[in-house]
Amino acid sequence: MSVRAFYGRYADLYDAIATAPGVARWRERAADALSLAPGDTVVEMGCGTGANLPHLRERVGSEGRVVGVDLTRPLLDRARERTARWENVAVVEADATRPPVARADAVLASFVVGMLPDPGAAVDDWCDLAAGRVALLDATSSTHPLGRLLTPAFGAFVGAGAPADSPVDSFRQAVERGEDAPNRRLDRRVGAARDALVSRTVDRRYEEHALGFVGVLSGRVE
Ligand SMILES: C[S@@+](CC[C@H](N)C(=O)[O-])C[C@H]1O[C@@H](n2cnc3c(N)ncnc32)[C@H](O)[C@@H]1O
Repeated sequence: MSVRAFYGRYADLYDAIATAPGVARWRERAADALSLAPGDTVVEMGCGTGANLPHLRERVGSEGRVVGVDLTRPLLDRARERTARWENVAVVEADATRPPVARADAVLASFVVGMLPDPGAAVDDWCDLAAGRVALLDATSSTHPLGRLLTPAFGAFVGAGAPADSPVDSFRQAVERGEDAPNRRLDRRVGAARDALVSRTVDRRYEEHALGFVGVLSGRVE
């Protein structure tokens, strides 16, 4: 099943997870990592139901501009509802690997690069359009001693949540181990995206949450 069909079908469920209480804290930290100032323009690639958009709007204020980009219409509809009260927040249906924005002060992508076939190239393109900071909020396997014990549970969580054609396929993905397992693929993609960010930015910051399963990497484009 395609990303678009999968997230379109489970839009309500995804929004409930995306706005769960603990998750909001990671979003705050990712928005902070962009060091936004009032009046800035910030783009979120793969904005989903728009859970980050209020945090970004709060930081750029009424003079700034927030653009959310995603390719799944039911999620975008939710993002539009969430941000309807702000005239300076726009939600656009487009592919984040061909962003419809030429210039911005900052770019955020949260829980997205793991879904892109070539995340390094996408991050490189985002750095081309950002005048300031780029931040990536992602989940990966943990390297913390306690987190490592939970690797099988993380694998099951990632596998069950990855696009699948049927409940049976979801189950197969959840129990899959080995190089092609969804969590291993996620780790490789997030790694490639972070490598690209490191090679393009200075003044980098990295912080971890949730026993090392969640990380925010950000840097300033030179
Ligand atoms: C796990 S959700 C994360 C959504 C949101 N960033 C958040 O933190 O809640 C992944 C999102 O990426 C979007 N997505 C995946 N590939 C994309 C692409 N090439 N262009 C735009 N959006 C994409 C999906 O439609 C989905 O909304």
